[in-house]
Amino acid sequence: MMVLPASRGAVGALVLAAGKGTRMKSALPKVLLPVLDQPVLFYILDSLGKCADASKGRINSMAAVIGYKGELVQEYLSSDWPGTLPVWQHEQLGTGHAVQIAEEWWSGLDHLLVTPGDVPLVTASSISRLVADHLSSGADCTFISFEASDPFGYGRVVRSGKTIVIVEEKDATEAQKALTEVNSGIYIFKTSSLSPQISRLDNENAQKEFYLPDIVPMIARAGGRVHASLAPDEKEFAGINNPRQLADAASALRRRIIDRHLAGGVRMQDPDSVWIGPEVVIEEDARIDPAVQLWGKTKIGAGCGIGSFSILKNSILEDGVDVLSHSVLTDSLFKSGARIGPFIVVRDGAVFSEESQGGKFVEVKKSVVGRRSKVPHLAYVGDATIGEESNIGAGTITCNYDGVKKNPTTIGDRCFIGSDSIIVAPVVIGDDGYTAAGSVITSDVPEGALAVGRARQRNIEGWAKRSTKKD
Ligand code: UD1
Ligand code: CA
Repeated sequence: MMVLPASRGAVGALVLAAGKGTRMKSALPKVLLPVLDQPVLFYILDSLGKCADASKGRINSMAAVIGYKGELVQEYLSSDWPGTLPVWQHEQLGTGHAVQIAEEWWSGLDHLLVTPGDVPLVTASSISRLVADHLSSGADCTFISFEASDPFGYGRVVRSGKTIVIVEEKDATEAQKALTEVNSGIYIFKTSSLSPQISRLDNENAQKEFYLPDIVPMIARAGGRVHASLAPDEKEFAGINNPRQLADAASALRRRIIDRHLAGGVRMQDPDSVWIGPEVVIEEDARIDPAVQLWGKTKIGAGCGIGSFSILKNSILEDGVDVLSHSVLTDSLFKSGARIGPFIVVRDGAVFSEESQGGKFVEVKKSVVGRRSKVPHLAYVGDATIGEESNIGAGTITCNYDGVKKNPTTIGDRCFIGSDSIIVAPVVIGDDGYTAAGSVITSDVPEGALAVGRARQRNIEGWAKRSTKKD
């Protein structure tokens, strides 16, 4: 059995996210640029977060160094990662400087894990392995290196005998540039070995920056043990420094997410055309047709089918929901057996109850469609509550907006709303209420009544003949 050293204890993770990302040429800081539907920064925080989960890892606390457009990054952290402490680096003087300014935070920890913010492909299992190796070996510093097929831009790992030095691209000699073992930028340090060295970094290099990689030989010179852990898969550690690398990361993550769902029993005839965000949950035996996009915290239950060109965001589908093609569903709930689309927009917290239907050329906003009720064609339903087993005829419109505020429509159970009914809210239509086709409904309809709100038809006999004579 492995004996863990006495220094085993609190591990904190510090994510470096203060840089501008000059090579990205974007107004947004690099870590906020989207990869699929989440910012670059999401992915490393997600992997670290999984290691914080007691069963898998030992990360007890997290902080992120922010600086360039830091207010935006801070806003993102406080809304999506409230457990991650923002640490301000007002001037971005290098990765070593970023760790220096956070010392007050990490000085109370036993071990400090440092990662760049721009490595979205790094998995939780690689981080857990690094932490476990470091703790069991008792090293003072362990960092992940990898063999890069194109080492350009990375710090090269230069080994001579037992000493390891990391040389940045801009400082490297031609011979060093030819080396392919590179620094991933992910390190874990014993804080007791890091602390005496961190203030001794200098910026005498091509970029006039304080480089964190310089710490590695400094710890060794002070008698510490340094271990470079060579990772088997270079793709995982790719840094995102330019738009090409950002696009490559998106396609790698997309592929990884698709594979995870296929392995989980989700069927796709054309997985190459399907886009799924990292937070989407899909249960087994669901079917995703070509060219579907699933985003946000969408959840798809067992046995659901999603038709082509549908875009779902933050929507929950219980088991056995059938979504036909061209459905755009946002922030809404679909209970089991609901049948939706084609060509429908559902949004703002709408609910389709069990076995209800929403059909062709329909928009449903912030409304509840009751069990087995149908909105089959050409309708706008907004701020409405529809009871059970009611039918909303083609062309029905709830006029919910009076120019100032939104007004509610309530339709009871077993109602029959005739085609082309215009319901001027606020209106209540009681259970078993009917409206005649073409009616403008401006007042409540009592239970069981038929409301007729239209001009009576009159036929003018012989009109056609008379009107042609006039000419
Ligand atoms: C860095 C490493 C390099 C390694 C590579 C791996 C240094 C000097 N070089 O290079 O050895 O191979 O990562 O991807 O560390 N940042 C700050 N404050 C700063 C500067 C940077 O927070 O003052 C952040 C950036 O936002 C970024 C991360 O640190 O997330 C890395 O910075 P970046 O400029 O991308 O370093 P690389 O040149 O990629
Ligand atoms: Ca980088």
